[in-house]
Amino acid sequence: MGLPWDFHAIGGDGVSIDLLCDDDFEALYELQSDPDVCRYMLYEPRSRERVAEVLARDAAATRLEKVGDYVQPAIRDASGALVGTLYFHLTSVDDRTAEIGWALLAREQGKGYARTAAALLLDAAFGEIGLHRVYAELDPRNEASVALCLRLGMRHEAHFVEHMWSKGEWTDTGQYAVLEREWRR
Ligand SMILES: CC(C)(COP(=O)(O)OP(=O)(O)OC[C@H]1O[C@@H](n2cnc3c(N)ncnc32)[C@H](O)[C@@H]1OP(=O)(O)O)[C@@H](O)C(=O)NCCC(=O)NCCS
Repeated sequence: MGLPWDFHAIGGDGVSIDLLCDDDFEALYELQSDPDVCRYMLYEPRSRERVAEVLARDAAATRLEKVGDYVQPAIRDASGALVGTLYFHLTSVDDRTAEIGWALLAREQGKGYARTAAALLLDAAFGEIGLHRVYAELDPRNEASVALCLRLGMRHEAHFVEHMWSKGEWTDTGQYAVLEREWRR
């Protein structure tokens, strides 16, 4: 138990998380080129070439050991099809802290996939990975993401005003977090 942690597939009730693979390309392109999905993401809609680069890069990111390491697993439905992705980024080893993020295909939103997948990852985070705190950062205008944080039992901890220049405007950032002991409750 603990760090370093090598990613492995985690299965749940009709939802699993697993590493990205080449077969995910078309669904990942649908996700990352969709202007609505990207509205509150840090990146602009991506080209096919850029998605191919990102897929190769993220499929190879499998170990959490040092600050900056991340995994970006696929969220899969019962058939194994990609419905979205999670992002899990080790931001402190000393403080055993990570950042979590999520994105679902527009046609797969509103079905509980993000919540179920994030809960699987948080179980691992506070179980086998041995973390103390996991947080999410978001644009407070992103109501679906705020609602997901609250459904996961994350606490609203901060609101940074005009914290970041993003997509041509000063943008606020909200931070939500949950501790290991809170998740266990
Ligand atoms: C943020 C995002 C992942 C949330 O997705 P989501 O589908 O709303 O979240 P969940 O998977 O938790 O699903 C919850 C919704 O499914 C519904 N639902 C249906 N069946 C469900 C089930 N079996 N279990 C749980 N929820 C279910 C819930 O009622 C809820 O809908 P509601 O908000 O209308 O009440 C999604 O809006 C998204 O991908 N946005 C674009 C990318 C983005 O902005 N990412 C975040 C950047 S910070």
